[in-house]
Amino acid sequence: MLRRRRVVDLLQVISSQSCKCPAHANPGGYGVQHNLGSLQSTTSNTAPSKEYAFEMACSTIRYGLGVTRELGMDMQNLGAKRVCLMTDSNLISLSPVKAALDSLAKHGVSFDLYDKVRVEPTEESIQDATKFAKAGKYDAYIAVGGGSVIDTCKAANLYASDPEAEFLDYVNAPIGKGNPVRVTLKPLIAVPTTSGTGSETTGVSIFDYRPLKAKTGIANRAIRPTMGMIDPLHTLTLPERVCAYSGFDVLCHALESFTAIHYTERTPCPTNPILRPAYQGQNPVSDVWARYALQVMQKFFKRAVYNPDDVEARSSMHLASTMAGVGFGNAGVHLCHGLSYAISGNVRKFQPEGYTKDHPIIPHGLSVVISAPAVFAFTGQSCPDRHLEAAQLLGTDVTNAKKEDAGQILADTVREYMRVMKVENGLEELGFLKDDIPRMVQGTLPQHRITKLAPREQSEEDLAQLFENSFKIY
Ligand SMILES: NC(=O)c1ccc[n+]([C@@H]2O[C@H](COP(=O)([O-])OP(=O)(O)OC[C@H]3O[C@@H](n4cnc5c(N)ncnc54)[C@H](O)[C@@H]3O)[C@@H](O)[C@H]2O)c1
Ligand SMILES: [Fe+2]
Repeated sequence: MLRRRRVVDLLQVISSQSCKCPAHANPGGYGVQHNLGSLQSTTSNTAPSKEYAFEMACSTIRYGLGVTRELGMDMQNLGAKRVCLMTDSNLISLSPVKAALDSLAKHGVSFDLYDKVRVEPTEESIQDATKFAKAGKYDAYIAVGGGSVIDTCKAANLYASDPEAEFLDYVNAPIGKGNPVRVTLKPLIAVPTTSGTGSETTGVSIFDYRPLKAKTGIANRAIRPTMGMIDPLHTLTLPERVCAYSGFDVLCHALESFTAIHYTERTPCPTNPILRPAYQGQNPVSDVWARYALQVMQKFFKRAVYNPDDVEARSSMHLASTMAGVGFGNAGVHLCHGLSYAISGNVRKFQPEGYTKDHPIIPHGLSVVISAPAVFAFTGQSCPDRHLEAAQLLGTDVTNAKKEDAGQILADTVREYMRVMKVENGLEELGFLKDDIPRMVQGTLPQHRITKLAPREQSEEDLAQLFENSFKIY
């Protein structure tokens, strides 16, 4: 045991001293286990050192106005006898949950209700939902809500399916062990009610890890919902701010997956496909989803935010969030998300309109977009053509643009969307102080899984500068 520990320590030293540029780093985030794989592959020469393949995985998607009416039949078709429906304390009294309950009642499906999901979950709130799931011994799950509900339900399903597992066993390395999932989970139907996270398509569950004051999560294809049921009727009750902030999450999913490193630049090549990370770098298929989502944003984002009855705009944004989810769920995100986890983890008093008021939060989409102008100004030089194409898809005329201005052009494009959607003027207006920067840098450093997918390498000083440059936007 001691000898193995020493080997592991040695490998960590080797990996921490190895080249840190994106092309030679390990964004897979499998920590020790993955490093062992890399060492084996280079010494035994059985696998190429760089990645050569990508894999697209996504939940089955069903899309249609009013499609929630089919939920009860789906549960019958699955033969589910003990169903757990999860939601939050706000949605429990709104039409999306009512539509789901009506369908279950109509088709005689008996179920238990868990409505204590925390908006922006924490490790404690996830464990509370897990306790409920374990006690109920359910054979199917339904999540009706935004990313907070869907992510909580995915994690509860995982831990209830592997009751002996310790909480950190599946949490991303280096915070947790990042173990591969070898148990079979119960079916989960996710019914998203925000046009934002795309969580209904991804194998990712995100929560705030309080000891670190930053978010982390579980990233494994095994926790992907069986089906994402996209019913745009649910977005008609979205408050303006939730529509705006969750829309910026979609925008950043598309922009970050589109500008991430190419999948062949990721190392090491996994020695076993089970070790291939969900976040693999941009690839030709994820590009299709990202481009589509950006075009929809250009056409419908503003209309959806300011016209709650605009069914066409809100439906289009709902589909775009799923599309961007398929893209980033396979390609990954990078610095806006990497920085956001420490921003939301260090919230002081901010309590936005439209969100549950029981605790201060920086909503996920807001925490992500607040650094976007600084991030894209920084990454532009690494893949200028992609930054220019993204700006063009969002409506900017780039006919005579110079490549050296690409980052600034995309930064200005995003800034203009932020102005139109009335986003707060930077970290300062969200209540942060310059003294918070070192702590936020420390919270960002363990997010290798995503920051190493950025097209440009970052030092600690670069990260500090990105936070500094996000204190004022306009
Ligand atoms: N798993 C993933 O792939 C992934 C990706 C991005 C973000 N996330 C996570 O998702 C969470 C954020 O999720 P979100 O932005 O979807 O919001 P959310 O689930 O946190 O909900 C935000 C607020 O909107 C309310 N709400 C939701 N739908 C509503 C509706 N139709 N009508 C009225 N009110 C409604 C909720 O009750 C809540 O108060 C964060 O924890 C974030 O880290 C996960
Ligand atoms: Fe996100």
